[in-house]
Amino acid sequence: MALWGGRFSETGRAELTEFSESISFDHRLYKHDIAGSKAHVTMLAATGIIPQATAGAIISKLDEIKVMIDRGEMEFKFELEDIHMHIESTLIAALGDEGARLHSARSRNDQVALDIRLYLRDELDFLIDGIRNFQRALLELAAGNPRVIMPGFTHLQHAQVVLFAHHLLAYVEMLDRDAGRLADCRKRLNVMPLGSGALAGSTLPIDRELVCKLLNFDRVTTNSMDAVADRDFAIEAASALATFGMHVSRLSEDIILWSSQEFGFIELADAFCTGSSLMPQKKNPDVAELSRGKTARLYGNLTALLTLCKGLPLTYNRDLQEDKIPLFDSLDTARALLNVYPPMIATMSINADRMRAMASDPALMATDVAEKLVELGVPFRTAHHRVGSLVKYCRENNKALNEVTLEEMQITIPEATAEFLTLFDPEASVSKRELPGATGYNAVAGQIAFWQNKLK
Ligand code: ARG
Repeated sequence: MALWGGRFSETGRAELTEFSESISFDHRLYKHDIAGSKAHVTMLAATGIIPQATAGAIISKLDEIKVMIDRGEMEFKFELEDIHMHIESTLIAALGDEGARLHSARSRNDQVALDIRLYLRDELDFLIDGIRNFQRALLELAAGNPRVIMPGFTHLQHAQVVLFAHHLLAYVEMLDRDAGRLADCRKRLNVMPLGSGALAGSTLPIDRELVCKLLNFDRVTTNSMDAVADRDFAIEAASALATFGMHVSRLSEDIILWSSQEFGFIELADAFCTGSSLMPQKKNPDVAELSRGKTARLYGNLTALLTLCKGLPLTYNRDLQEDKIPLFDSLDTARALLNVYPPMIATMSINADRMRAMASDPALMATDVAEKLVELGVPFRTAHHRVGSLVKYCRENNKALNEVTLEEMQITIPEATAEFLTLFDPEASVSKRELPGATGYNAVAGQIAFWQNKLK
């Protein structure tokens, strides 16, 4: 008979048992479920709701059950539905009536809300550390190649010369916001729901503040109906992870492009690539491609959670049991990305000569010429137009921008002086961009130092 079976005359049809179980995926909450139960039972004894000796017996049995599950010795059965029932029924089987006192003033509704928060809190801490590690890998690559220049792109067209380190640090910034979003989420979810009961609180004289303190929460929830009904914290985590995935996917796309024959900017270590079963010469950037692909799951999980919650009347509905599948998948996917990415970054090799060669196209310095004209007092739109005309002249005469003589340049840019002929040097172009946030050598060195200090 199920623990809730008192008012039922028939339970346990096999199809329903299988349909409604969650143990196959919520078993991973066991440590947090046990930690929550230990705090709850400590409080039940402290408030005199159950005898101290009973609490002592329950706590040591719960510790044994934890070890049992650690060792894979608990048999999971669909009839026992979920992790909460597995642990409680094992307890009751061992302690009889004493064990049956644990669930006083508690419902699985507030219990599962607690467990997910506890579990997610630990996972978020782990993922934030992982993101820091990822940032460090990018930073080390930037710091090891501080003067490597490359073409920067807009619309995937060569745009202006930038430092490779600057490009890498753009991702360090994105990842920093990702870690920040996870930390925000952790802050908001760190509120203790136990004591909300099924939805209306409890008539028993429990001490919610004590449980809150024992489990290291910042405060207790202030509305029992909200506490058992909402999963916005899970949605927030999935959303932050979807954004993180979007960033990883963009980096993946850069890496895939950079490692192609057309770009040839980098070479990934063999360990992070695979070959083709048909074409012997192939070396494919699978880790980057799979990272881009797994991001789709992060989006799907977010959509699933939002859709799961959108039509639910207050308060708890069984639909909410389905929250764990997408949430866990997002956490696992983020973990997987954080596992493979830092070593892939650390082991890739840089083809600085190739990047420099691609960055030496004088067309990349066209904006520098226009800005020189602005310095001489020419309105920017006029300057832009004149340089545009020079580009047209060069195309028509089959010359690169740095192949024209001063006289030729003056046909379209009357203000041009000899100095203009020196503007086509990519290193010079980079070194003139020393504003805060720009790609100049000193500006980027300053950013490298900033992040080294922040991530040490
Ligand atoms: N396994 C359930 C879940 O994950 C636990 C809560 C069940 N509550 C209930 N009233 N049936 O949501």
